[in-house]
Amino acid sequence: MTTKDFIAKIPKADLHVHLEGTMEPELIFRLAKRNHIALPYPDLSHLKAAYKFDHLADFLSVYYQGTKVIRSSRDFYDITLAYLQRAATENTLHADIFIDPQAHLDKGITLAMMLDGVLPAVEESRKKYGISTGLILCFLRHRPLEESIQILQSIGPLQAHFAAVGLAAKELGHPPKDFTRLYEMAGKMGLRRTAHAGEEGPADYVRQAVELLRVDRIDHGNSIVEDPGLMQRVKDAQIPLTLCPLSNLHLQVIEDMKAHPADRLLRAGLKVTINSDDPSYFGGYMNANLLAVSEAFDWGQDQIIQVMRNSFDAAYTSPERKVEMHQILTDFINNI
Ligand code: ADE
Ligand code: ZN
Repeated sequence: MTTKDFIAKIPKADLHVHLEGTMEPELIFRLAKRNHIALPYPDLSHLKAAYKFDHLADFLSVYYQGTKVIRSSRDFYDITLAYLQRAATENTLHADIFIDPQAHLDKGITLAMMLDGVLPAVEESRKKYGISTGLILCFLRHRPLEESIQILQSIGPLQAHFAAVGLAAKELGHPPKDFTRLYEMAGKMGLRRTAHAGEEGPADYVRQAVELLRVDRIDHGNSIVEDPGLMQRVKDAQIPLTLCPLSNLHLQVIEDMKAHPADRLLRAGLKVTINSDDPSYFGGYMNANLLAVSEAFDWGQDQIIQVMRNSFDAAYTSPERKVEMHQILTDFINNI
């Protein structure tokens, strides 16, 4: 079996994927039409041509533009189902999905309305494709801390639908330490905690996420390689890193895939996972991400199996589901 076939077939998990970053251009246009929203792009080819990014902020303005077409629970249902259907074709067993409430509340869409669309799609996909899902309530770091705190304080019974809180958007100038109070509150509420850190920010942002936000996962974390002491600490604690190679390439975090820290970090014994981030914007879902790193570092089946086992361990799901996913992977390996 070629590495490409092996990657396509291996049971996998995607632990770092933004729901709003899974909208394919065709879906953006369909929702814009349905909701009578004017897009600043005359057609699909112009939208696709805008997918050239110099850095994170450049991407985020196109990404938030895309979120404007989302107006109803039905839209959330369609987006979630489209992603999970696509993930199922890649033999994805589990997905941890970020949702950005602050990108939708201003449009009059409540968290309950978002979940009215997302949850039926999650349930349908679980029944049809056997995919399990964790939802991450993702806060936007360029928005005021008080706004995030208010959302978390007023979440009520909807908390039951979220496995964790997350922190995303423009990293530089918005260090993790600014969100210490929010994360303290999330911890007291029994939510798990992850945060984007070290994507464009320095290793010190990763340190803050670990020490002040007390995260149980780090999203990206690339810049940890600048700080060997911190690397050792994250290794000892086996805090997983949700790396996103194609995202890093498209946002020019790295110059080419060979410069990606995935291989160094895996060799050093850190709990490396490979994920898709915003797959419709960065040229590929899980298979494409795994293939890109495998080709850059000449990874064989052993490394690919290792990162998948790491993902199952790190997934926001029950211990029983983790055991089940490991068993599905063992059966797959025994039958090739
Ligand atoms: N929101 C969606 N994708 C993101 C990324 N790669 N970094 C930070 N925030 C994001
Ligand atoms: Zn992300």
